[in-house]
Amino acid sequence: MDKAFATRAVHAGRQDFMKLGVHAPPLDFSSTYPTPDLDVAARSFDSLVSGDLPIDGSFVYQRLFNPTTDRFERALAELEGAEDAAAFASGMAAFSAVLLAAKSRGTHVVAVRPIYGTADHLLTSGMLGMTVTWTTQDAIAEALRPDTALVVIETPANPTLELVDIAAVVRQAGSVPVMVDSTFATPVLQRPLALGASLVLHSATKFLGGHGDLLAGVVAGPHALVRDIKHVRAATGGLLHPLASYLLHRGVPTLALRVERAQATAVDLAWKLANDRRVAGVRFPALPGQDPRGLLGRQMQGPGSVISFELASEDPAVLRHFLGTLELITPAVSLGSTDSLIQPPAALTHRVVEQEAREAVGVSPGLLRLSVGLEDPRDLWRDLDHALAEVASRLELRDLTPALAR
Ligand SMILES: Cc1ncc(COP(=O)(O)O)c(C=O)c1O
Repeated sequence: MDKAFATRAVHAGRQDFMKLGVHAPPLDFSSTYPTPDLDVAARSFDSLVSGDLPIDGSFVYQRLFNPTTDRFERALAELEGAEDAAAFASGMAAFSAVLLAAKSRGTHVVAVRPIYGTADHLLTSGMLGMTVTWTTQDAIAEALRPDTALVVIETPANPTLELVDIAAVVRQAGSVPVMVDSTFATPVLQRPLALGASLVLHSATKFLGGHGDLLAGVVAGPHALVRDIKHVRAATGGLLHPLASYLLHRGVPTLALRVERAQATAVDLAWKLANDRRVAGVRFPALPGQDPRGLLGRQMQGPGSVISFELASEDPAVLRHFLGTLELITPAVSLGSTDSLIQPPAALTHRVVEQEAREAVGVSPGLLRLSVGLEDPRDLWRDLDHALAEVASRLELRDLTPALAR
């Protein structure tokens, strides 16, 4: 019988517990493993280096395999409806391995802006030997070339929260694999593989970790593709540390609770901000007019818990004063933690993207990205309201009629 997501999340990656006689995941820190039978170890080495499973329980070396990390990978694969998953030391390490693995098919990538600033930079700089064509979600087909190895999209997009139609992009991409960065959605709200994507990637540093205390990345998909990615990982060494894998696995059963609670608070705050004359505009998929393709409910089961907004002032000193006045919400990059975080992407996370390219997709100097945490919504609003009041005399208060949110 098919079990519901919440049930699967509680039990994912725990299939060997009964046999092991344990109730919580064992944490194995071994950097190397005894190889009493050289023939078995050699065969296992060959298998692991190719991205396949260990043979006869011989793990050989942590860069090739770690059972604690393997359990988290199985759990994540289960939640994404994937055959396999590979975990990395960061989201960027995961993305790098995806790109290096794709090079066997070609050296051209088609990607839709905006995406996370450093991911944009990795593609634009060509430092991994790939070239990129930036396009929009409706013009994927035109951007494809015979050497296109991968289509890269991020939805919701960091930091504008634009939703990209995964199924429509997959249709346009034809036989070219599509990788979806689903960090902002998590498998609670969106399952890109079910919509035809080939790979789904997460910066697990964010909601999957959920507590702001680890860095990790994970990519899930069919065996054949993940095998190639694990092959790259074995050679380049970006494996996730077992302690981070343990913490990630520990957080999987509560992921849905955390995501849904933060989302409910974000909906409340987004409406309040959108109805506030001190705020010039709010980006949040659940606000009127912000989901023109009707993807909420169809592709994504809710808007998530990241809100972007602009103060009614273009003066950078006002933005600094606003950030400095917040008491509860921490000015910091990253997102998806238990506590709320805020940062101006143009100045920090997206500063590695050329200004012109940033501004063409709405990442203005005054844009603030708020990651809503698990605090009580009333306290968060009080904090925002207080900081808005502090800068109110320097804002150009907007007329609220007729538009609610621009
Ligand atoms: C959407 C998205 N993808 C990828 C990354 C990169 O992840 P990491 O910081 O874990 O390397 C980030 C980081 O902020 C992100 O927001």
